[in-house]
Amino acid sequence: MKAAWSTPAVLAAALLFGAAAGTAKAESVGEKLFKQQCAACHAVAKDAPIGAGPTLAGIVGKDAGIMEGYRYSAEFKKGLDGQKWTPELLDAWLADPQELASGTYMMYKQNDAAVRKAIIEYLKTVK
Ligand code: HEC
Repeated sequence: MKAAWSTPAVLAAALLFGAAAGTAKAESVGEKLFKQQCAACHAVAKDAPIGAGPTLAGIVGKDAGIMEGYRYSAEFKKGLDGQKWTPELLDAWLADPQELASGTYMMYKQNDAAVRKAIIEYLKTVK
């Protein structure tokens, strides 16, 4: 039998719970997911040491590949130079980075649209 708890259902439950818990300080679902899935490689604070990947402070609305002091792969540059990180482009990137920039160093792939959405919502809040 298929498990009754699909990932989106668990996520929806977590979102509801988060809303019920509702303090401004409570960590959002997106922030938790970011810490689980992205923080090993990406910092979000501007003054934090650069990780394996570029720092993501203010990434939503920013041009791709412009973090000072980070050496992007040639493949990343080729695939994304001149593009802006809209929520839609971020969604496509997280779904399959290799699709946008074949050969990029970012080893990650997220098939679950609800997880991608929650992470992108969180990224909108990091300035
Ligand atoms: C295993 C390490 C790793 C993980 C995990 C990872 N990334 Fe990355 N990410 C990278 C690397 C490395 C690059 C640079 C790619 C290149 O130069 O080819 C990158 C690039 C990016 C960029 C482009 C930034 C810019 O300056 O244009 C974004 C946005 C991004 N990652 C978001 C995320 C998010 C959100 C997650 C979690 C859902 C994530 N990444 C998970 C390693 C990782």
